[in-house]
Amino acid sequence: MQYDVILPAAGSGKRMGANQNKLFLELAGVPILIHTLRVFEQDTQCRAIYLAVKSEERDYIQQQLAQYEIHKVVAMPDGGEERQHSVYACMQEIKNSEIVLVHDAARPFIELPTIHELVQQATEKGAAIAGVRAKDTMKNVQDGKIQETVDRSNLWMIQTPQAFRFELLNRAEQQAAEDGFLGTDEAMLVERLGEAIYIVESSYENIKMTTKEDLVFGEAILNRRTGGHSY
Ligand code: CTP
Ligand code: MG
Repeated sequence: MQYDVILPAAGSGKRMGANQNKLFLELAGVPILIHTLRVFEQDTQCRAIYLAVKSEERDYIQQQLAQYEIHKVVAMPDGGEERQHSVYACMQEIKNSEIVLVHDAARPFIELPTIHELVQQATEKGAAIAGVRAKDTMKNVQDGKIQETVDRSNLWMIQTPQAFRFELLNRAEQQAAEDGFLGTDEAMLVERLGEAIYIVESSYENIKMTTKEDLVFGEAILNRRTGGHSY
């Protein structure tokens, strides 16, 4: 089953504190953005990549795409103020798609079996998102005081990719735009429509490069995958 992927890459990476878009930082000598793009470039089921970028970074990113021989990027619209706006800008570029995946450009460690399971589930059921089971004990805290321990058995930490039938995500985005609703992921927009969304168990390695420590974890993951056995 073929799919198109939207990669929001128009953030500024404030929490990384690198004074530049964190996606340009390198892991094993290759920019984070390129690691993520390579996954989809190499996936024969992926038809096209839609990349939301900052306008002032477009030329630099174009150069990088050429240097690393990434050929599947078919549109690079300007991103927006919030991640949701960046995803929306990409949606506007897509014509005639059945299944759309939204994936943070900042998650370079996503693997093909998870992607393919998401595409399969979204094709069958409409919407499927990646997540992992919560590992720590979870408590509800208000004003520094524990209110209760939350039953962890039903709690999942949600990641991307998030996969949808194009028609469903499009409808969800239009409704959110109309209502001025801002969600923290695409699934939230679909939930508002009352449509069912299914979970696909992903990997704890599918981290989002967010703070400096993640660079260390990232190097360790790559090292293990290339046979260095750092854990
Ligand atoms: N993103 C985007 N447009 C925005 C904000 C974020 O395309 N207005 C992208 C980022 O480039 C990243 C993904 O959405 O690939 C996930 O966002 P996040 O991890 O929060 O990245 P940043 O917003 O860049 O980082 P920070 O929140 O620390 O500033
Ligand atoms: Mg952000």
